[in-house]
Amino acid sequence: MSMSEKISLVRPDDWHLHLRDGDVLADILPHTAARFGRAIVMPNLKPPVTTVEQARDYRQRILDALPARSDFEPLMTLYLTDNTTPEEIRKARRSGFIHAVKYYPAGATTNSDSGVTDIQAVHAVLESMAEEGLPLLVHGEITDPAVDVFDREAVFIERVLLPLLARIPALKIVFEHITTADAVDLVRQTPERLGATITPQHLMMNRNAIFQGGINPHHYCLPVLKREEHRQALVSAATSGDPRFFLGTDSAPHPRTAKESACGCAGMYSAHAAIEFYAQVFDEAGALDRLEGFASFHGADFYGLPRNTDRISLMREAWKVPEILRFGKQELVPLGAGEVLSWRLL
Ligand code: NCD
Ligand code: ZN
Repeated sequence: MSMSEKISLVRPDDWHLHLRDGDVLADILPHTAARFGRAIVMPNLKPPVTTVEQARDYRQRILDALPARSDFEPLMTLYLTDNTTPEEIRKARRSGFIHAVKYYPAGATTNSDSGVTDIQAVHAVLESMAEEGLPLLVHGEITDPAVDVFDREAVFIERVLLPLLARIPALKIVFEHITTADAVDLVRQTPERLGATITPQHLMMNRNAIFQGGINPHHYCLPVLKREEHRQALVSAATSGDPRFFLGTDSAPHPRTAKESACGCAGMYSAHAAIEFYAQVFDEAGALDRLEGFASFHGADFYGLPRNTDRISLMREAWKVPEILRFGKQELVPLGAGEVLSWRLL
């Protein structure tokens, strides 16, 4: 067990982030920019970011909302729909600022109504992505209402991901926010073109957290938290040093009123303390020496981007997460609200 009081690591990147748009950008972006050098920005706005032009404009709004002197770089993505064309994919690759395409099965999660209804139908687009070397980022949950919510990732592997891996061997895929031992096993058994992001919430909590002391909408996200044995499999994957597992927060802010509602929506906000959460997990697993690989190297290597060169430091020092953060004209309840964390960003 490492007893270090201070750790320094090459500046990490967040390979799965929801930044939203409009007046909230200026409230949440500083949290990410203080910690991370780059982030893969998810395209599930309303309407979704489906074209290179939309991504260019969104990127500019993000850059405009950054704190002065920030070097943070948003890595943009396109939202795959039934109507995406191979031409748009080639244009995306040429843009230089689009780094991936996100696949949401239609109806799987927040703002996924425009998602793909049948992955077979977008075959030509996926082939062009393989040719251009643009990775496909997968929200890996089957949407079949007959499948138990807690089994949707495992069933997705069988029904969609395995056939897809076989059909287009040259396509790079990131299995986003994995939540199960099944997903961990799949990544371990698949050659290098399959990577996976892991969120802080799925490393820290199991599904009991949704029901502890009454139903807690702030612990609801998609894919939903799973059993303890799955959490343990994720911790072991993240801390293993295997380069196919890397950091992706899936930080997904919603206004407090949308969470604390009769039909609370899915998503947890973790950007305010993202690297601190991961440090705590790695520390508790006795694997602080593996944090830098997971947080700062593996993702960049998978995407074929240079590693960052500057550094951040964390100190072992207790601090309390605020109960509420600003979110435009609304309020945001952050992950770990009111709780004491053991690592502080310097
Ligand atoms: C995300 C959101 O709110 O945009 N919600 C979530 O629970 N993760 C969508 C997503 O990534 O599934
Ligand atoms: Zn997400």
